[in-house]
Amino acid sequence: MSRNAEPSPAQAAALLQAARAVRRHAHAPYSRFKVGAAVLDEQGRVHAGCNVENAAYPQGLCAEAAAIAALVAAGGKAVRAVAVVADSKVPTTPCGGCRQRIAEFARDDCPVLVGTPRALKFVTSLGALLPHGFGPPALRRR
Ligand code: THU
Repeated sequence: MSRNAEPSPAQAAALLQAARAVRRHAHAPYSRFKVGAAVLDEQGRVHAGCNVENAAYPQGLCAEAAAIAALVAAGGKAVRAVAVVADSKVPTTPCGGCRQRIAEFARDDCPVLVGTPRALKFVTSLGALLPHGFGPPALRRR
């Protein structure tokens, strides 16, 4: 896998496909808003996650958080690309908290693919979604 910002077309297709597939397993009985996410790690592996809501609403988990947990559990160290899929009219981008979660493992140029079950809507980047974000480099002492 290349170290370039852009995933290969095959990797992008695999990421979107994984996000679409896992979205079908979302547990979203309260919002009825199913989300699937997939992250590409530094070894070229794809890890997927869906939102998991809870009757105690604040305990619900976002799809991106679940995908990142799967990456870490599999021994992944970095997020090289992200795909998010929801069936919304306005494309669904990662929420603020998930932008921060992605920033823990990704560089600003990390591509974020935003799609629906039928189409890729656009590609943005972590830096565009979370400009001037706080992350691990900020904790390094002078
Ligand atoms: N949700 C995600 O899983 N990811 C996003 O990027 C946006 C929102 C979930 C949280 C909640 O279960 C449902 O979508 C409605 O907000």
